[in-house]
Amino acid sequence: MSPPPSDLRRLLAAKQVVIACGPGGVGKTTTAAALGAALAASEEWRVLVLTVDPARRLADALGLGTLGNDARRVPLDQLGGSDRPRGELWAAMLDTKQSWDHLVERHAPDRASAQRILANPLYRNITGRFAGSHEYIAMERLYELHGEGRYDLLVVDTPPSRDALDFLDAPERMAEFFGSRLLRWLVAPSRSRLVELASRPFYQVADRILGTQFLEDVAEFFLLFQAMYDGFVTRARGVSALLRDRATTFMVVTTLEHAPAQEALRLADELARRNLELGLVVANKTLPDLFDGPAVEVADELRARARPLAEALAAGLPQRDAAGPLADPTTVTRVLEEIGQSFRDYRRVAAREAELLARLSAAHLVAVTVPHLARDVSDLPALGEVGRWLLGEAGVAPA
Ligand SMILES: Nc1ncnc2c1ncn2[C@@H]1O[C@H](COP(=O)(O)OP(=O)(O)OP(=O)(O)O)[C@@H](O)[C@H]1O
Ligand SMILES: [Mg+2]
Repeated sequence: MSPPPSDLRRLLAAKQVVIACGPGGVGKTTTAAALGAALAASEEWRVLVLTVDPARRLADALGLGTLGNDARRVPLDQLGGSDRPRGELWAAMLDTKQSWDHLVERHAPDRASAQRILANPLYRNITGRFAGSHEYIAMERLYELHGEGRYDLLVVDTPPSRDALDFLDAPERMAEFFGSRLLRWLVAPSRSRLVELASRPFYQVADRILGTQFLEDVAEFFLLFQAMYDGFVTRARGVSALLRDRATTFMVVTTLEHAPAQEALRLADELARRNLELGLVVANKTLPDLFDGPAVEVADELRARARPLAEALAAGLPQRDAAGPLADPTTVTRVLEEIGQSFRDYRRVAAREAELLARLSAAHLVAVTVPHLARDVSDLPALGEVGRWLLGEAGVAPA
């Protein structure tokens, strides 16, 4: 019998876009990939996971060994679920350089302009380096992929950035930049302005040091980009509408350590402030729920009665262990005391985790926890395991 649909399944049945965001290094990429895989395996959906900078081994596992924007079909039979996979999983990596080229080819006014932009020496430097380039292109790709309508669900990973919400503002910022007064002043009318400026002392020096060619390149670059200005504004509005759409939801991923959890709480507030739906909070790499219930008493007893327990153990050892390490009550006592104490420490951490989880849970529709697995999540079986935790079915399908 199939399990009843989890809250998460119910939430996502009505969604087309899930955006994973959160502090650095907490498992955004892992969670996005695992969620996409779990849903593709269990629903008749075509799911695309758009990853950003996945760890090498995870990329290989997803068939994304070489960088590029093309989506690859990922075989689902290694996820370790009990049922035959029902949907399709596709994975793509965000290649910033290729995406920028593609954007220029698509949106420049004509082929000749596109060629001139791509050949402009400044183009590569600027698009590759300016702050927010990665975030901007992630949103462009999302918008484009959504527009193509080839997938039932897009699960989007976000770049590690200074501020986890940078990507939300990136399209607007880009539109503002290309519409800025400074830029208009620079490019209109660019050549005559350069000639005029060339007579001023600063430009005479700049010209001598940087060369006329460089200044021409600067002017040409901005002039050509200016022609795409309307497109940037239109798409920034489109992205904004897509992020607010009822078919889009956000997934905040965090660990339950103090700093990332605070950052996640701030993110939740900020999403609410912007009227963006925070559908799901994932507490990743949590402690197992061992630090509660009867195990606590056991640990306390081990610590309190370490000496007599160690002596009883030594006395009851079978002949073959009589000279082994367990026969030394002093060392065994110290180990038992240390285990009991460590358990207490972990218990305190677990209590803090539970408190942070409760606070995070107040701000969203669904909260799930994924324990810290004993191994890195860099192959399909491990992704499958994380996916089952996300869907609340970790005990249902074989791990
Ligand atoms: N539940 C888990 N158990 C064990 N290891 C995990 C778990 N989740 C993630 N990891 C490991 O943690 C590391 C970081 O994960 P990941 O790359 O997904 O984080 P990220 O948030 O995308 O990082 P960045 O901010 O750099 O993009 C990886 O090595 C991954 O395999
Ligand atoms: Mg990542």
